[in-house]
Amino acid sequence: MNPIDNKMRGRVEDKVALVTGGASGIGQAVAILLAKEGARVVVADLDESGAIQTTETITAAGGIALARRLDVTSDADWHQTIQFLEQTWGPPDVLVQSAGISFAKAITEMTLEEWRHVMAVNLDSIFLGTCAGIKSMQQNRRGSIINVASASGIKASPGASAYCASKAGVIHFSKTAALECIQRGDNIRINSISPGGVRTPMWSNMPNWAEVARSEPWNAPVDTVPLKRFAEPAEIAQAVMFLASDESSYITGTDLVVDGGYTA
Ligand SMILES: NC(=O)c1ccc[n+]([C@@H]2O[C@H](COP(=O)([O-])OP(=O)(O)OC[C@H]3O[C@@H](n4cnc5c(N)ncnc54)[C@H](O)[C@@H]3O)[C@@H](O)[C@H]2O)c1
Repeated sequence: MNPIDNKMRGRVEDKVALVTGGASGIGQAVAILLAKEGARVVVADLDESGAIQTTETITAAGGIALARRLDVTSDADWHQTIQFLEQTWGPPDVLVQSAGISFAKAITEMTLEEWRHVMAVNLDSIFLGTCAGIKSMQQNRRGSIINVASASGIKASPGASAYCASKAGVIHFSKTAALECIQRGDNIRINSISPGGVRTPMWSNMPNWAEVARSEPWNAPVDTVPLKRFAEPAEIAQAVMFLASDESSYITGTDLVVDGGYTA
């Protein structure tokens, strides 16, 4: 028997990963799972102390992670973060873009400034990160980029037009970017993932959901979801892991919906 058959290898063993939004919710769960499966992870977030906490959780469990403050809307921050990564561990094999914000307001009440802020954090960031990620990954001619969109990018929600439009943009931008990479022969796969409702702190910032998110019924059946419950961040992380690993080597330009049947 080949000795290597005896060695337990993680699903992303030896890969270098960058996760935005890694201080909280889905990004945090993704960072922890990637590290558990053998990747060295840079946890990047506007919330630097939250990012440090995630890395402490990872290192306490025997994983390898570093924290980095990153404002995903800043081109300069992206360049610095990628440069840091390249100098530390080399270009990333995996980039997961989970940083994002929710926003709910009727179209007739929303200001242009509010609209632009949602677009900047949820969509401009995806352009900047994908662009920086591709350029760095081109050095090794390999990589997987996973952009976190939303079921709200597929199914509209009244009162959340900016959020829905930004996430629809993430889905279609990711498909276009995937095809550009194929056309150039980059060997970089790009996919998006569209979660339905996930139990994370993001909901506590939604005006109509703050109470729900704080209260026990958070675990109660959810009528709008066929599976009748919110997802846990770890369940979304498992789907991201599949797209990050070589198990999905033939998958690019797709949107993986993880929504308990919400958009079915
Ligand atoms: N929670 C859900 O139900 C749900 C559903 C579908 C999609 N999503 C998407 O999943 C992603 C993660 O959301 P979450 O639920 O984990 O939310 P969260 O609030 O728990 O985490 C979001 C993280 O993004 C960070 N962030 C915000 N603005 C940033 C910026 N400018 N630069 C860097 N980091 C920034 C925050 O500090 C935070 O740590 C988001 O893109 C969100 O739209 C969430």
